[in-house]
Amino acid sequence: MDIAKISKQLEDTGYIVLAKPLVDKLLVDLLRRCQEDDPTRFHAAQVGRGAAKKKINSMRGDVIDWLDASNSTDKIYLACMEELRLGLNEALYLGLFDYESHYAIYGKGDGYAKHSDVLQGKKNRILTTVLYLNEDWQACDGGELVVFDPTGNIVIATVEPTFGTMIIFLSESFPHEVLVSHATRRSIAGWFRVSGS
Ligand code: OGA
Ligand code: MN
Repeated sequence: MDIAKISKQLEDTGYIVLAKPLVDKLLVDLLRRCQEDDPTRFHAAQVGRGAAKKKINSMRGDVIDWLDASNSTDKIYLACMEELRLGLNEALYLGLFDYESHYAIYGKGDGYAKHSDVLQGKKNRILTTVLYLNEDWQACDGGELVVFDPTGNIVIATVEPTFGTMIIFLSESFPHEVLVSHATRRSIAGWFRVSGS
């Protein structure tokens, strides 16, 4: 990953869309991991935390599975993110402490309404990453990520979830939504966090 380029653009605009920052072999292995083959793995995503945690179908339709550091494929992806974490800390003094990430599968008709990734009362998510794993994605498949400016009123980017594309953005600054997908849509969403509450 071109950490110099990523840190410069994060500093300038707060977000960056990368066409294919990871090698194909890894992407293919990650796609294989992002399959609902084992019914015990993926579960409905929830919105909120603790007492406020609930499943809101109308808000968010994906099923998720957290990456597993003991899996050989996940381990390679997590090592790439660790390199990015250290590089960004060096360049931008962000004090990023760790990285959490999950596979996500949106079925036909699923989306994720406009939201912020910074949970109420929990401000430790600093940077969001989303890596898309969809081969042969067509414009008519929908499922775009729409990124808004901090006011939430102006669209600043629309990203197609095509194979290998990755977006990185400041978690607190950019409300975003996933438009309804008309095909199965696979991704890895992740968050670099600072330590503390
Ligand atoms: C999320 C999210 C965006 C995407 O999981 O919080 O906003 O494009 N995902 O999948
Ligand atoms: Mn989000």
